[in-house]
Amino acid sequence: MNYDQYYNLCKKSYSGEVDIEAIANFYTSPVRLYDPNFLGNEYLEIIKNLSDLITQDFDTKTDCDDDGIMVKHNNIWKFHKQISSICNLLVPHMEKNQYGCHLYVDKIYIYRTLKLTDRVSSYEWHYDNNPDEIVKTLIYLNDVDEKNSPYEYLKGPNNEGVLGVCTRKGTECWYPPPNNSRVGHLIEGLKKQGYTAQQVTGKQGAMVSFINNSIHRANPIIDGYRDVINIRVKPTMQPAPEYANPMYSTSYEHSGVVNRNPVLAWKSKI
Ligand SMILES: [Fe+2]
Repeated sequence: MNYDQYYNLCKKSYSGEVDIEAIANFYTSPVRLYDPNFLGNEYLEIIKNLSDLITQDFDTKTDCDDDGIMVKHNNIWKFHKQISSICNLLVPHMEKNQYGCHLYVDKIYIYRTLKLTDRVSSYEWHYDNNPDEIVKTLIYLNDVDEKNSPYEYLKGPNNEGVLGVCTRKGTECWYPPPNNSRVGHLIEGLKKQGYTAQQVTGKQGAMVSFINNSIHRANPIIDGYRDVINIRVKPTMQPAPEYANPMYSTSYEHSGVVNRNPVLAWKSKI
């Protein structure tokens, strides 16, 4: 089964409250931006608390790996309480207003971007090439402007995000993407056709929620630093015991590629 079919089944079996109009735009509005205040004061307090702890870890090189491209947190479950609190606010909103089905968190990354001379890895224009039904939400843990690594995405002439050609859709379709899903060589041509690149700046707690195949990139640091938590969700027919849990939510220790079979949902680590 492919992920789009599984997602349809999940929507059919879902009895929670749903904003039908917002759900209808799931694929056509693939990048959604949210103000820090969007999820309320409790959210802002948790983000501030998590940000302080993570800044401290990165500043003191505690529980992290620096590969010269990013500093990656390698012990995210020490923040289980904060992760749960954030997911309990964020994921129900996504269930109601973005997907219209049960979701669980299958991946969490906490990282700091760096100064780079050459754009490599996620600093190049790319799409992630997991199935379109996988959405990532990037939360800024500190204020971000043009100089400290704003997330950037490609916008179409309709002002919406643009999806790359996904080649991993599920058990019925799974093959390597053209050019390893790097699309930098196409951007200038697309700009001539009315496409634009949009950098996302914002205060601590600002969120970008995007279908993983939206064409995007990180920007290298010019001045300052940028810490983020990136929360990735998958549709599930049956709700998980909690949205995020080390039993089924992974980080850098596992591949970023989802399991080819969507039905396994939170029964499998990848
Ligand atoms: Fe990416």
